[in-house]
Amino acid sequence: MRIRSNPMWPILLTSLGVALAPTSAGAADAPAEGKAETLTSGDVRLELPLGLQADAAYIPDSNPLSKAKVELGQALYYDGRLSADGNVPCAGCHNPYHGFADPEATSPGVGLKRGNRNSQTVTNRLFSAEQFWDGRAKDLEEQAHGPIVNPIEMALPSHDVAVEKISAVKGYSSLFEKAYGDSKVTMSRIAQAIASFERTVLSGDSPFDRWQAGDKTALSAQQVRGFELFRGKAACETCHVSFNFTDENYHNLGVGFDPTTKSFADKGRFDVTKKDADIGAFKTPTLRDIVLTAPYMHDGSEVTLESVVEFYDRGGNPNPTLDLKMKPLGLTGQEQADLVAFMQGLTGQNLQATPPGAKDLPR
Ligand code: HEC
Ligand code: HEC
Repeated sequence: MRIRSNPMWPILLTSLGVALAPTSAGAADAPAEGKAETLTSGDVRLELPLGLQADAAYIPDSNPLSKAKVELGQALYYDGRLSADGNVPCAGCHNPYHGFADPEATSPGVGLKRGNRNSQTVTNRLFSAEQFWDGRAKDLEEQAHGPIVNPIEMALPSHDVAVEKISAVKGYSSLFEKAYGDSKVTMSRIAQAIASFERTVLSGDSPFDRWQAGDKTALSAQQVRGFELFRGKAACETCHVSFNFTDENYHNLGVGFDPTTKSFADKGRFDVTKKDADIGAFKTPTLRDIVLTAPYMHDGSEVTLESVVEFYDRGGNPNPTLDLKMKPLGLTGQEQADLVAFMQGLTGQNLQATPPGAKDLPR
């Protein structure tokens, strides 16, 4: 499989044991101040990395977690056999060694074809219903159907072919049986398992979280200044709000606006709602693990966090439907550096940091 910059993958398909332990079903345990929270769904009991909030989890009733589904979903997520040339797994563009995103502005799919959007991180999807930059998928289950048959991504001719290919791999039958009670492969089961795995790709317990939990040495003085700017003068928190640093909403910052033609290369949320006000609006991304997921923005147009901050300092790119919250910020050079330092404090521990080796996939 083609996953860049990962010469040596440790072998750990069973690594889930670290985070998953048996429990009776139930809802989120009561949050305790400064302590890691626990989420239970199906037979899964997940100790969330510090800072993540169990009551914000979104798991559809039709697809509770189970240890068996997470294990199956992990294998499918890393399995290039779900693509036309056998080489493009989900992880090819959502790479665990790059914060579950991709280091290129746009990612090569089968036949090295590329779209015009940057691969988003798959991290902390547990806390979002709608998926994609424009929110066109209502949940992770629906989302997982897309790339497998997208001609510029995994490029299978149909979902039936995906089902045939996975059915042909003997080793999957026991995994499907454990997850669903019988070994029948269906596209909906494939998608449910992948979504379940993705819901365990969680990052928290960053220096910022430890600082918030009371360890005042976890952030530097500069990072604390950056956090104050983030909440105050720079007003980043109006959109990057709450523990996952997103309002789960859509905003037009002017990214990709061409002042000469006065149009957007990509209309974003407009394609879903057909409302003029949504032209050029994209989903607010989480900022967790942000140093790992460069380049930035829906088109990968900003290469560094420094250039992202300069972009905001200018007030974004002027255009007819620019979000009203976008204003020139008048930040000093020092203040810009402080904001970047703060974001560097958001790199956490990921529950699924260790991928399986290619030879551990079902045969
Ligand atoms: C060729 C690269 C490529 C492959 C392969 C790929 N993706 Fe993606 N993924 C992307 C891009 C690009 C986007 C953003 C697309 C958009 O917004 O229209 C995306 C978006 C997503 C999102 C939305 C995240 C969010 O914050 O809304 C999820 C989840 C996701 N992909 C999961 C998967 C899964 C699961 C697979 C395998 C079944 C997969 N991807 C295969 C490139 C890829
Ligand atoms: C009006 C809402 C809003 C405000 C205010 C805002 N952001 Fe954003 N942020 C977004 C949206 C929406 C995107 C994606 C935009 C796009 O790609 O078109 C984004 C993208 C980003 C990214 C790139 C994330 C990625 O994964 O590509 C970073 C980093 C970021 N913002 C940091 C900040 C900082 C720092 C501030 C304050 C100086 C800030 N944001 C203020 C809404 C906002």
